[in-house]
Amino acid sequence: MKTITGFQVKKEAQEQIILVTCYDYTSARIINESKIDAILVGDSAAMVMHGYETTIQAKLPMMEAHVAAVKRGAPDKFLIADLPFLAHRKGLNSTMNAIETLICAGAQAVKIEGIYDHQDFISHIVNSGIPVMGHLGLTPQSVHKIGGYKLQGTNTSSEERIFEDAQRLQENGCFSLVLEMIPSKLTKKITESLTIPTIGIGAGPHTTGQILVYQDVLGMNTNFTPKFLRTYLNGFSLIKQALNAFSDDVRTFKYPSEKESY
Ligand code: KIV
Repeated sequence: MKTITGFQVKKEAQEQIILVTCYDYTSARIINESKIDAILVGDSAAMVMHGYETTIQAKLPMMEAHVAAVKRGAPDKFLIADLPFLAHRKGLNSTMNAIETLICAGAQAVKIEGIYDHQDFISHIVNSGIPVMGHLGLTPQSVHKIGGYKLQGTNTSSEERIFEDAQRLQENGCFSLVLEMIPSKLTKKITESLTIPTIGIGAGPHTTGQILVYQDVLGMNTNFTPKFLRTYLNGFSLIKQALNAFSDDVRTFKYPSEKESY
């Protein structure tokens, strides 16, 4: 999927939209040749690529560098970038400057967590010609307020709030909505009520699509084992095996061979 139009086309055709996160050029090249529809350069880059404990440490220059690298590697995939922590909370001008940086680096859309007090910014951004993806449920930039990475929408009032926020994000012009870590029943209700696609992570099967972190799909992060995650490769141990094989070959003078020498 190269452009935003694919999102609505797939929703209408009742086809699932599949996204992964990506942060680097080499992985982007692989994704570019895969059946994945679109890429999110998530602020999870701070955790996955830089080893921080939260996404809060993802600053704009970090996001800009990752977006540019991914764009070079995956020119054929629709590219969404996360607006990092507080980038949309310091006034409209600085929000638009941050968005300009990400779009000029190669993003085709931005994802913004939550809605409170920046609802009007969303319509301004959309009216400026920039597609916005919403993000409700577990919003990791608010981890300190939430008190950890846990399931959201578990009582009637928070369920109602998430449902109403989803309607408001659609009204404000979001082209799609990420639902993270909410019960399947709530996801179903939201997906059925919206005309825009919902993209789930830990939100059950009743969405228009799913997103996972690239390194999680590939089993690279052995410390992260939430119930919702299915891994498709034992990446950590396969890469370790390959590195050990290289080490063993060098130590036993099997590499480089005559054929591998000049
Ligand atoms: O930053 C991220 O990786 C995300 C996805 C998990 C939705 O926001």
